[in-house]
Amino acid sequence: MKLVTAEGCHLIDDSGKKYVDFTSGGIFAGTLGAHSPILRDALNTDIQCCYGAYDNHYAERYKDMLREWTGFEAVALFSTGSEATEAAWRACRTYTQRYGVWGGMPDPDTVGESEPENPYDAMHGWTLGAQIMAGKLSWGMAFEGLSQGTFMAREDACSMMILEPYHGPSAQWYDGKLIEHVKGNIKEFPDIYVCFDEIQAGFGRTGKKFGYEWYHGIKPDLITVGKAMGGGYPLAALLGPKELIQQPEANLHSTHSGHPVMCSVGIAVLDQMQKQGLVEQSYRKGMLLAELLKDCGVRHHAGRGLLAGLEFKNAKQASKVVKLCRDRGLLVVDTGRKWVKLGPPLIIDDDLLSEGVEILKLAIGRVIVEEGEKDG
Ligand SMILES: Cc1ncc(COP(=O)(O)O)c(C=O)c1O
Repeated sequence: MKLVTAEGCHLIDDSGKKYVDFTSGGIFAGTLGAHSPILRDALNTDIQCCYGAYDNHYAERYKDMLREWTGFEAVALFSTGSEATEAAWRACRTYTQRYGVWGGMPDPDTVGESEPENPYDAMHGWTLGAQIMAGKLSWGMAFEGLSQGTFMAREDACSMMILEPYHGPSAQWYDGKLIEHVKGNIKEFPDIYVCFDEIQAGFGRTGKKFGYEWYHGIKPDLITVGKAMGGGYPLAALLGPKELIQQPEANLHSTHSGHPVMCSVGIAVLDQMQKQGLVEQSYRKGMLLAELLKDCGVRHHAGRGLLAGLEFKNAKQASKVVKLCRDRGLLVVDTGRKWVKLGPPLIIDDDLLSEGVEILKLAIGRVIVEEGEKDG
């Protein structure tokens, strides 16, 4: 499907067909919807110098806003989430001189046991370091001192543990046994920095500023953010204590980090989030979404912000539902697995949310009935 234009929570393809967007522009980046006039103005700001490598007024102002809004001491800006998660590890490694990392969520049902086929794998980005952090065994094994998905690396070789607030593809939260396991590790190894990867969950997606706020008793030392903070434009950041973020040896920057045009956009997104109360709105609309999905016919996770994961029999069934939704004018996130994910822009209104869920329910009903008929 080739998109040619967009307006708010609707996307339009090259045949003129209009879709309700439950993906926020693909994977949760479009906070203010598509083609927002506010972001258009921010892009057209009269910027005299287009280089991000030098200090500039927009980057300074944006960093101040981020510090104030998040409560973290220091900020390093980047263009992609993968850069931010790599930077988190680099900051912790450089500071502690311990090279290992713990990442990759264990399966809550088999925590502490060896589990080669872990369905609750993590996602921290596309670059090599980010893949290792996510506990991709085949990568991690090549490097001495790195852990492989569970807390296996010697703790004295680890500088950081990194985790997402919820399992990406299914939107399932880490409750009960698993979160107690994480809390236990944090308590037992206080010298290891704790980083929450909020690249998908942050900036109001879950009905709070950040997903970690849903876990009582856990306060990360660092967070990585991206996607929604740029409203669809490439922006990401690492936030944490000065001792980590401001050490020159860690080189926490890249060519376009702090780019004035992107920072102008970031300022506009954050400003609108505050003015429109989008975090609070996400919380309320999340309750509505959970209510609307109550009788959707499949197991699902919803109720924490504008986010939901629906579980199907297998990836094939999930993909049929995605396709049928698309045919009927609704875009949902195809995870390529047995889950379908929902994440509309935070500005979506209640009527459009209900309209989208109706299309989804019809699609689910049809696929389940069709498959039932075939089985029968
Ligand atoms: C939790 C999480 N971390 C990191 C990333 C990587 O971000 P990017 O694609 O901007 O590099 C993603 C992207 O989907 C993500 O969902």
